[in-house]
Amino acid sequence: VTPVSLENLLNDEALRRREFPVCEKSIFLAHAGVSPLPRRVAEAMRDYLDSVTRQEQDDERTDRIVAATRRQAARLVEAGEDEIAFVGSTSMGLSMVAAGLPWQAGDNVVCYRDDFPSNVFPWMELARRGVEVRSVEPRQYGNVTVGDLERVVDAKTRLVSLSSVHFVAGWRLNVDAVGRFLGERRILFCLDAIQSLGALKTSMRHVDFAAADAHKWMLGPLGAAILYVRKEHFDLLRPALVGWHSAPSRDYIAPEKLTFWPSARRYEPGSGNLAGIIGLHAALELILGLSIESIERRVLALSRRTIAEATESGFSVVGPNAGAGLSGIVSFIAAKRDLAQLHRRLLDAGIVTSLRRRRDGSRCLRVSAHFYNSEEEIERLGQILREK
Ligand SMILES: Cc1ncc(COP(=O)(O)O)c(C=O)c1O
Repeated sequence: VTPVSLENLLNDEALRRREFPVCEKSIFLAHAGVSPLPRRVAEAMRDYLDSVTRQEQDDERTDRIVAATRRQAARLVEAGEDEIAFVGSTSMGLSMVAAGLPWQAGDNVVCYRDDFPSNVFPWMELARRGVEVRSVEPRQYGNVTVGDLERVVDAKTRLVSLSSVHFVAGWRLNVDAVGRFLGERRILFCLDAIQSLGALKTSMRHVDFAAADAHKWMLGPLGAAILYVRKEHFDLLRPALVGWHSAPSRDYIAPEKLTFWPSARRYEPGSGNLAGIIGLHAALELILGLSIESIERRVLALSRRTIAEATESGFSVVGPNAGAGLSGIVSFIAAKRDLAQLHRRLLDAGIVTSLRRRRDGSRCLRVSAHFYNSEEEIERLGQILREK
């Protein structure tokens, strides 16, 4: 498969449409939801599916692809390849972290109740094990800072779990600063990274656990997720799900003693989603080939452009207007506009955005452009926003 460059993609509309068939008929601005597949990702999966109608579904070739995908994922998050496991979803990865740690009655865990439920429910469920579940209360909706965490953590806090980007407001967490703050207090840091991996540079340097599925910014299929576990925690985090993949066994005969693999593979209980991982492999090849730094610059430029179009059209942005808090998500509101109607009107014009609600019931329109969206597409969005 020939590599593409961002420059070629953006200067050659035919190439852009070829690589991203969704551009043929619509303006897709909902990558924070579920993304359409790039052509090369679908082709990789289709080739695999075709080939396995005539042979076994797994062999050395698929083993090599899985190993290569592990290396790609490790490169993307600046971790070791032995620190990456493939699991079924972000939710599954976060649940495995919650379920596998040695909690003691009286411990507390901190999450943010206005995060996506995948990063709230697994922690709430720990109440059954005597863990106190606390919510950080940021001064600004969706914008969790070190200062907010200082007010909620104490000597009994074992873990804090946050999202790298808030799924509605779009605030980007300062992952390094939060990680350093928690690390100094010996508090574990778990990250729901699905709203940044593939769009924004996200390093695991100060993170203990993280999970992200492929289906949003990584442009891969549903159900092919990365779980990152810091190497020094392999003993601390027990595999909550255990199967034949978790530990070596010769000739499929279970040994007397269960000794897990000395890598994050111990968190993969059984047969993996090979079609999904093959899709993820093609998607990560695309992303790493363009470089996450260039993708981030492009995504942020498109977010700034979206913010300008929205504010010029009389909308107010729910999250950041500028600065280090920007991400690929821009949500906005307008007191006098029916956003459900606007969402439908955009759809009728071929523009896909997302309609979300906040806890107070108010609606907002979420726009999430990826690197392959064009300036013209954002301008077209602006035109419709300006129509009364
Ligand atoms: C922040 C966040 N976490 C998790 C998820 C769900 O991920 P999965 O379906 O992989 O569990 C979403 C999906 O919208 C999300 O926005």
